[in-house]
Amino acid sequence: MGKRTVSRRRFLQATGGGAAALWVPRRVKGYSAADMEAMTGEGRMEADVSKWELDTPALCVDLDALDANLATLQETVAGNGIASRPHAKTHKCPAIARLQMESGSVGICTAKVSEAEVMLEHGIERVLMTTANVTPFKIERAMALTRWYPGFVHATDTPRNARDLSDAAQAAGVTASVVVDVDPGGHRTGITPGRPALELAQLVDGLPGLRLLGMLCYDGGSQHVHGFQERRAQTLGRLAPAAETCQMMRRAGLNTEIFSGGGTGTYNIDHETPGFTDVQVGSYVFMDAQYLAIGGATDGDVYSDFEPSLTILTTVLNSQYEGRVTTDAGAKACTINQPWPIVKGESGMSYRSGSDEFGTLRYENPSRTHQVGDKLELIVSHCDPVVNLYDQMYATRDDRVEAVWRIAARGRSA
Ligand SMILES: Cc1ncc(COP(=O)(O)O)c(C=O)c1O
Repeated sequence: MGKRTVSRRRFLQATGGGAAALWVPRRVKGYSAADMEAMTGEGRMEADVSKWELDTPALCVDLDALDANLATLQETVAGNGIASRPHAKTHKCPAIARLQMESGSVGICTAKVSEAEVMLEHGIERVLMTTANVTPFKIERAMALTRWYPGFVHATDTPRNARDLSDAAQAAGVTASVVVDVDPGGHRTGITPGRPALELAQLVDGLPGLRLLGMLCYDGGSQHVHGFQERRAQTLGRLAPAAETCQMMRRAGLNTEIFSGGGTGTYNIDHETPGFTDVQVGSYVFMDAQYLAIGGATDGDVYSDFEPSLTILTTVLNSQYEGRVTTDAGAKACTINQPWPIVKGESGMSYRSGSDEFGTLRYENPSRTHQVGDKLELIVSHCDPVVNLYDQMYATRDDRVEAVWRIAARGRSA
């Protein structure tokens, strides 16, 4: 797989270059989700189906763009001397996690214990759960995973939680691998860097049921900072106390084999933080309108390091009013996140998905229109919550459906 970067020109061509509207002119065929499932063997399509024949709304992932994103990430992080541990909270899809592992990632992250269960059950055996489990119920579930999958890693951010983990591990007859979650300053999760984090790491190291593997520090507040230099300055500053904590842990003889963090916005910056080992990138596989807007190192306007691979197909339902049409992809298909979805291959129009069942497409030139039944393709606003709305995604190449992938962890938010 060669590296493929997207120039600003190519991105604009893909998203707003004024190309002809994309639709199926005379539809004779149509395939529901159930039809598609019936035509797949172990997820692979056994029939020749164009994505434009899919019933809508439908979630699609373009395999050429996905492959390019996997390759760009791996080449970049490997060239910078670190690793990737992609976050499965973005795709919730074991088939994609498998591709990430095959492309060279050292493991997968999950946000929730239920997501971890799905990934582990589907053969992804190196899972780091980035959120601490705090209730006895969740801790017990997590320890059950440790019993079957020794590669499962827990996060902790308080001494009390570390003791609870150790007690539960001993009760389950396992030794649980643990990283200390360090706060980059956002106060969302994590313990204060410096002495509090060091003392927690020492506690974890000494508790009988636990094995210390290092730390994580996810700087979510820097991922969408506009402008590469601004993003770089902010995240390096915010990670400096965590880097110092990592040094303190090393000097104290503690294990720092993991210092994980970062995301799609800082994947090419995080290696500059001393001791940092791997990026927890999530959105890079799909991209979305939120990330496209942040600007990259080579392009100040568009973050073009990764290609938008995830789209929603939608059908025009009503075109009888001037200056607008109504589609079938509203909030339940697109979410109400903003910026709003981008109509791929079109310009001079804007899309809104604020209404539950309907999308609204408005034209700058009121004499423009689409016809009822026309299909349009939307670049998603924010990939993670969109994926969580669908049971499956259609993996396509050159508009042909190659596979139907189950979003097996869809709805696994506990
Ligand atoms: C703990 C953690 N790590 C990594 C990520 C991935 O971030 P991104 O999608 O920006 O790459 C997230 C996303 O919210 C996260 O919460």
